[in-house]
Amino acid sequence: MSWLLAALGGYLLGAVPFGLVITRALGLGDLRRIGSGNIGATNVLRTGHKGAALATLVLDSGKGAAAVLLALWLAPAAASVAGVGAFLGHLFPVWLGFRGGKGVATYLGILLALAPLAGLATCATWLLTALIFRISSLAALVAATLAPVWMLILGSPREAAAALVMAALIWWTHRANLARLRAGTEPRIGNAGKRS
Ligand code: G3P
Repeated sequence: MSWLLAALGGYLLGAVPFGLVITRALGLGDLRRIGSGNIGATNVLRTGHKGAALATLVLDSGKGAAAVLLALWLAPAAASVAGVGAFLGHLFPVWLGFRGGKGVATYLGILLALAPLAGLATCATWLLTALIFRISSLAALVAATLAPVWMLILGSPREAAAALVMAALIWWTHRANLARLRAGTEPRIGNAGKRS
């Protein structure tokens, strides 16, 4: 029962589309018609509003972390389930007809709460890849793939399975990005992207 409640609570938290809420509140237009059409921080940055992008990053990560921390407090055994619930909520929000975001910021927040050392290593992986290549999706794919490895190395083997499931879903949500990466047309961070 606690697992079901953790999954449901996590899902409801994760389903709050902060990027969309923030850009609408600031009158920046419909995010789904800008850049890649994604509701995440990278695409919010394409509106030119850095503060909105930062707020989206913090809140999308924060909702993932909050789901896990709440579960750790109320039902510790269900922490991974709450995290995966929040991740699925971000990807498939009921409020948006189950068409949500790509899950990267939420994934990072979940990992930071679930396995702080491995979460920090995953954030550092994202940052390093982004600094070298300046491509957000590439940084996300590298970081997501290495996260389960960091978990195994840094002493969180039980959480590695949840990280692996979410990493696989991140590859799936980035399928349009993968096509652009292969074609050499993926925009660099801060540049306008194509609608996909
Ligand atoms: O976090 C999402 C990022 O990896 C890709 O975003 O808007 O470039 O598709 P976008």
